[in-house]
Amino acid sequence: MIIKIAILFSTLLFAYFKLSSNNYLLQEQPVVGVFTQPSTFSEYSRDNYTYIAASYVKFLESGGARVIPIPYEANYSTLDEIFSNINGILIPGGSTGLIGPSLYTQKVAYLVNKALKINKEGGWFPVIGICLGHEVMHYILSNYSANFLIDVKGQDKVTKPINIQYRQAYFYGQMNEELYQASLKENLAYYHHIHAVSPSLYEIAPILKQYLRITSTQIDDDEQLFITSTDGINIPFYSFQYHPEKNPFEWTIPANHSLHAIQFSRIHSYQFIQSCRMNTNKFSLDLNSLIFNYNPVQPVNQNYNQVYIFHRLNTMEDQELQNP
Ligand SMILES: *[C@@H]1O[C@H](CO)[C@@H](O)[C@H](O)[C@H]1NC(C)=O
Ligand SMILES: *[C@@H]1O[C@H](CO)[C@@H](O)[C@H](O)[C@H]1NC(C)=O
Ligand SMILES: *[C@@H]1O[C@H](CO)[C@@H](O)[C@H](O)[C@H]1NC(C)=O
Ligand SMILES: *[C@@H]1O[C@H](CO)[C@@H](O)[C@H](O)[C@H]1NC(C)=O
Repeated sequence: MIIKIAILFSTLLFAYFKLSSNNYLLQEQPVVGVFTQPSTFSEYSRDNYTYIAASYVKFLESGGARVIPIPYEANYSTLDEIFSNINGILIPGGSTGLIGPSLYTQKVAYLVNKALKINKEGGWFPVIGICLGHEVMHYILSNYSANFLIDVKGQDKVTKPINIQYRQAYFYGQMNEELYQASLKENLAYYHHIHAVSPSLYEIAPILKQYLRITSTQIDDDEQLFITSTDGINIPFYSFQYHPEKNPFEWTIPANHSLHAIQFSRIHSYQFIQSCRMNTNKFSLDLNSLIFNYNPVQPVNQNYNQVYIFHRLNTMEDQELQNP
């Protein structure tokens, strides 16, 4: 009995300090790491270049953060060094292969699992995955469940509403009633994917229910249900199948640029960066490692207005040999 009371008391005390530190020790100069992927641009060979679409950088900057690229081909000591200097991670959309797990998946998993460990131990390390990022988070957190993706029809470059299942979600809870109603009825969410995660994955891999709550869904042209967003359960993990970063920043694809669509996007950048402020890591790397050291270019590929292009740290062959 006394032991139980002692445990209860220390838990309450811990919760109190955690809450108060969140309130008073916000990191007001947050830095977010964004994973690179192999180039998909014909003018920059994937053997020698990686990229980040500039819309993800602008999205994070508009929430008040600075950005540092996380070269997926970097070795584990470099990944560790970046991780301890950032306040959150964004895993972007793209078309990099995941299954295997591929080297890309292994590198993302290395940092997602580090963040998960911190969060499980009472710390705070936010991760947001968008489109491919949402899919790879499900792959990793389901412990590499086979067939974690379903093929979907009619989701390639379309705008649709979202079916919010959980109004109190970290993001949707911040919407006023007008925007909430708009997101249910108007085509505010931009979808650009041929695969998706079905809610049935949570039955196949029940461990997912420990980590993530499904907060919205949609159906494809074959009436298949798929997940469009999740919120971490007591952990700051967030994932979106749709693209909040495209509404304000991409103009070569048919994203929605209406006022509601921009307000909808803003809630995502705003809330994610506020979550990152609750991680108290301090950035002490060379300032030249930040994205400001690079100039975005306009690719020939018409899916993005601007992308950041990086030289690989090593050749594809060399890094395929690395294992965690
Ligand atoms: C990549 O760079 C190497 C070294 O500069 C070069 O030999 C090779 O041709 C490049 N690959 C492609 C596909 O451009
Ligand atoms: C990791 O990569 C960095 C930079 O590319 C290099 O300086 C370092 O020696 C490498 N570390 C290991 C353990 O290979
Ligand atoms: C993940 O899968 C591997 C191999 O199937 C297994 O050894 C491991 O215990 C699993 N981990 C979790 C957390 O379920
Ligand atoms: C954008 O949203 C507005 C409402 O805010 C709607 O009237 C319009 O049809 C949408 N446009 C696209 C391209 O989805």
